[in-house]
Parts: sequence; structure tokens; C-alpha cells
Amino acid sequence: MTNPPAVGQLVVARTRAELSAALEGTRAHAGRVALVPTMGALHAGHAALVATARSAMRAGDAVVVSVFVNPLQFAPGEDLDRYPRTFDADLAVCADNGADIVFAPSVEEVYPGGEPSVTVHPGPLGSVLEGTTRPGHYRGVLTVVAKLFGLVRPDLAVFGQKDYQQLVLVRRMAADLCMGVQVVGADTVRETTGLAMSSRNSYLDPQDRAASTALSRALRAGADLGHRGAGAVVSAAREVLAAEPRLHVDYLALTSVDLDDPPASGEARLLVAAVVGSTRLIDNTAVQLSPG
Ligand code: PAJ
Repeated sequence: MTNPPAVGQLVVARTRAELSAALEGTRAHAGRVALVPTMGALHAGHAALVATARSAMRAGDAVVVSVFVNPLQFAPGEDLDRYPRTFDADLAVCADNGADIVFAPSVEEVYPGGEPSVTVHPGPLGSVLEGTTRPGHYRGVLTVVAKLFGLVRPDLAVFGQKDYQQLVLVRRMAADLCMGVQVVGADTVRETTGLAMSSRNSYLDPQDRAASTALSRALRAGADLGHRGAGAVVSAAREVLAAEPRLHVDYLALTSVDLDDPPASGEARLLVAAVVGSTRLIDNTAVQLSPG
């Protein structure tokens, strides 16, 4: 079997064979494997996921970070070609946060025959919220996540609440298709301004960056009124968004934690998507609702 190259303690696997070789030792002594799937351009949000994975593992277990910009989840005209790629810095983030293996395959390695003829249908949750503006996006996401689960065979996988709909769908897929992977959701990491960290924030110019803080301010204003009921939550958030002229709101939605209709009381989720300049941003927060 091929011997994957190592950067310090970190092993970089570019092929399926190198990945298997890198995991051989862990598998031989029945160690556990955690996976953090990413598209690279890693920031403090990704770093927190890697650290979460590491802290869930013991010595001798393996933390794998995948770095793969998945063409299948980008629609024509989206930012596949200009998506930021910062591989050397990504390796440092992985090493610093306790990863053992970075799996960074080529498109041909993941999709050797081109687009697979069998893909994962996300079901009804794939065509609401993000799915309305980005049809086919979650089919692409779930297909590559299913492939990564198949290649890495993790016991546990960590995803960010930042992409809340993605987290809910991956959890649903793992349960509905009996994949045997424990899916862990990690808190959203924010800049000091409240802006949720995102690889796409690098597209924002200073004015866009200032305007984009309206998303997290709106979510906070909404969540603060949970005790007054669903109507008050949505109005407060809408008011903050409306006050920022550079922002074009795609949706603002209050849902149950499973992205269904919100409950009259208890835990709910407030989600927003908006375009600032040419950049589409998403964010969400937990809300505790009372009947109001
Ligand atoms: P990517 O956008 O690189 O995100 C990788 C993981 O990091 C996702 O689980 C995402 O929710 C999480 N993440 C991003 N920003 C975060 C933040 N500010 N705080 C906490 N977590 C954050 O999501 C994808 O890639 C892809 O769709 C992928 C799942 C890798 C499939 O291609």
C-alpha cells in the first residue's frame, strides 16, 4: 500500500489508498475515527470543529479532516471557480487543533466516473429555505458526505450549526440510511462584530462587511423576544434587517429545531439568508419560545 506523505505529525492523504494506509494503524487496534468534512479555506469555525472532534476521541483514535471543494453542490454560475483555496494554511489549522490525517482528494479521486448515477435525494427538507434558492445543493452535499462516510468510515462526524439546514439533513441521512455515524453539531464561531465566520467572508469589501453584521444583530434581536412569542421574534428580526439598505433578504424563517413549523413554546430556530454586494450569507440561532 502507498505510504502517504506526512507534514509533522499530520498525514496528508491525496488518494483513497493513502487514506486507507493512514487509517490502518487505528483500525488494527480497533481505535475510533472522527471526521470533520470541510471545503478548506479554514477559519476559527472549522478549527473549533476539529478541536471538538479531537476532544471526543482518545489517544490512539484518529481525527480526519477532509478538504474537498465539491463541484456537485455548486450550481452553474455559483462560486466554484473562485472559492478560496488556502491549503498550506489549512494544514497548519488542522495540525494546531489535533487532527491526525488530512484527506484532500482530487475531483477525479472522489468522482472517478464523473457525476455518480446514484445520488442521495434529500427529501422534502432539501427544497425549503436554502433549497429554494439553491435547488440541487443538498443533493450534492449529501452525496459527497455519504461518499466521505463510505471512504473514512467514521464513528463520529462533526458539523457546524452555522449551516443549520445542512446539519439537520446530514443527521437525517445518517439516521434514515442507517449509516452508523454519530453526527455532532458544534456552535457557530463568530467574529467580534457578531458576523458568523465563513470562508465566503473573504469576498466582502469593508462596506459589505459592516452591513453584514445586520444578520447576527437581527437574530439576536429576535431571540431576545422569544418570551413574547413567534410574532414578536420575527418582527424584531425583520426590523433590524430592513434598516440595512445594502442587504437583500432572501428569507427570514422561524422553525422548529427540525425545520418544521415552530412550536408554540419551547426550542425553535430562527434562520436568515441575505445577499450583501454579490455575496450570499446565511446565519441562524436558537430561540426559546413562550406562547407570548
Ligand atoms: P464548509 O463550508 O467548509 O464547512 C465545513 C464545516 O464547517 C461545516 O460543518 C460548517 O457548518 C462548519 N462551519 C463553517 N463556518 C462555521 C462557523 N462560523 N462556526 C462553526 N462551524 C462552521 O459545509 C461545507 O463545507 C460542505 O457543505 C461540506 C459539508 C464539507 C460538504 O462538501
